[in-house]
This record gives sequence, C-alpha cells and structure tokens, in this order.
Amino acid sequence: MFLVTGATGGIGRRVVRLLRERETPVRAFVRLTSRYGELEHRGADIFIGDLQQQKDIQKACQGVQYIVSAHGSDGNPLALDYRANIELIDQAKANEVQHFVFISVLGAERGYEDAPVFKAKAAVERYLQSSGLNYTILRPAGLASNLLPLAERFRDTGIYLLIGDPKNRTSIVSTDDLARMVVESVTAAGARNQILPVGGPEILLREDIPRILGRIFNKEPIIINLPIFVIDGLRGALAFVNPQLQKNLGTFRTLLANEFFCTNEQIARLEGIFGWKLETLENFLRRYLAV
Ligand SMILES: NC(=O)c1ccc[n+]([C@@H]2O[C@H](COP(=O)([O-])OP(=O)(O)OC[C@H]3O[C@@H](n4cnc5c(N)ncnc54)[C@H](OP(=O)(O)O)[C@@H]3O)[C@@H](O)[C@H]2O)c1
Repeated sequence: MFLVTGATGGIGRRVVRLLRERETPVRAFVRLTSRYGELEHRGADIFIGDLQQQKDIQKACQGVQYIVSAHGSDGNPLALDYRANIELIDQAKANEVQHFVFISVLGAERGYEDAPVFKAKAAVERYLQSSGLNYTILRPAGLASNLLPLAERFRDTGIYLLIGDPKNRTSIVSTDDLARMVVESVTAAGARNQILPVGGPEILLREDIPRILGRIFNKEPIIINLPIFVIDGLRGALAFVNPQLQKNLGTFRTLLANEFFCTNEQIARLEGIFGWKLETLENFLRRYLAV
C-alpha cells in the first residue's frame, strides 16, 4: 500500500491515477474540502485528515509500505513543508516503510535565506537522508501543469505576463513524467537513496514559453515584462498589512529571480535511471490543450 500526501495536487493526483492504472493499492491523504471524487472513483482508499495534525499523520501511515510526500505549503511552510514531513518520516520509520519518496525543489541546496519553502525542503532532505530509510528525493524545476491556466488565458488574449529576466533559464518538467518517476523510484535501483534534479529535456529561456504558446495557438504573443522590483514593492507594502504573506512571497520572489534548470548530463542521468525519454513542454501542452 502506498500513502500519497497532496493527493489532490498537480503531482499527487497524477501519482494516484498512475498507481491505480497499475492496480496498486493506494491511500490518498485528502482534506474534507479537497476535490477527491475522481480518486475515490479510481479505487483509491480515501483518508480524510489534516497534515497539520500529528495524529492524522500517525493514523494515515499505519500499514503502508511506501510513502510519497507531494503536498504543498498552503501558506504555512513551517507546518506543512517542514513539520508534516518530519512527522511523516518518523512514522515511516515506526511503520518500517520500505521506501520514502520526497518531492523537494530544484535549488533546495542553494541556501536561499529569504525563501521559507526552500529552507524547509533542505532541512527535510537532510532529515530523510539520515533516517536510515530507503528514499528518493526528487528536486523538480517548474511543473508544466502550472502553465495550463496561463495557456488558456493566452488562447483568449494572446497576452503573457513575465516577471523578471526573460533570459533566465528554466527546464520545465512534464508533470506526467514526474509522477511516473515518483511511482518508479521505489523499484528503479538507480533511484534508491538518490537526490535527483528533475527537469524537462530542453533548457528553455523564460521568454521561450510565450513563443511556444504562440506556435501552439498560431498567435503572435504580447509579452508584458515586469521587473522583479514590482514584487519587492508589493512585499514592502504587505509588511504592514500581512507579515506572514510578506515572508511567504520570499519563495515566490526567489523562484522569479533565479535560474532553475537541469544540465544535459542531469537529464541524461534521469533518462538512464528510468529508461524512457522525457517529454518536451510543447508536447505536454499540446496533449492537454488538444491542439
Ligand atoms: N508546482 C511547482 O512548480 C513545483 C515545483 C517544484 C516542487 N514543487 C513541490 O511539489 C509538491 C507538490 O506541488 P503541486 O504543485 O503538485 O501542489 P498543489 O497542486 O499546490 O497541491 C497541494 C496539495 O497539498 C494538499 N494540502 C495542502 N495543505 C494540506 C493540509 N493541511 N492537509 C492535507 N493536504 C494538504 C492540497 O490539498 P487540497 O486539494 O485540499 O488543497 C493539495 O492536494 C510541493 O511540495 C511543491 O513544493 C512544486
């Protein structure tokens, strides 16, 4: 039995689907408010709880052999990116779990001081590595599925909003490829006890994304490029109104202000470990947008 946290999220939902397609038993950790009907319909065992509650994590981990941590921060990186993962790892040990797959983030090791999510991921990575469990830490770049709402908007307006340097490099990964890596990490010998940077097969410039959308929809993109100090201004104003949101925006700023891409060697290594070719961003978008 797998336990998947964040089972209704971009990655988690795909992991559960894939496991059920392979007729593997899976417990989906969801909230009462989550949209989990599809997962139930596919035969997942639905566990309703809150990852901010230790006792819910303890109950959810009983009798599982594999744990996939794929939940998000929900505005509270300390409680969710950090504490919930530490508790999941402790419970994995208590239940003698065979393999723990942790979704981290590309650049977790860079020590960005102003980015709570990155700091939490780095601390959890270290905790997992010293836990004695079998593990795979996947460090994805941006997810292709995040671009789907932007693509829909582009289809209607031709407008693409780009904050920060358009020449920054990125290697956006197909969310379906990432989900497949999660599932296969527990059996692929080369993924055991590894930290794997995960990106798509091409190194893109951020300005390539509207160009790809332009090709897909046969539309000349109108790129609105805002400088990064727009975010700084917003954060400055929030410091008085909502200090927590101001801190959390540090992660968003870090993502916009830096480059997150995988080298060709890292991609070749991934393809070698899993034994299949990674999908391009354009292919992913065409599949989902049916164009
Ligand atoms: N998105 C990216 O580009 C990206 C890139 C690199 C790494 N990552 C990492 O990948 C992971 C998954 O990202 P994602 O984009 O797939 O996530 P997502 O779509 O934002 O989904 C977050 C999931 O976490 C669940 N969740 C949040 N708070 C919870 C709580 N208190 N109790 C139980 N469940 C809770 C949500 O449930 P509800 O459905 O109830 O809201 C949802 O299923 C995250 O750890 C993220 O840091 C993401």
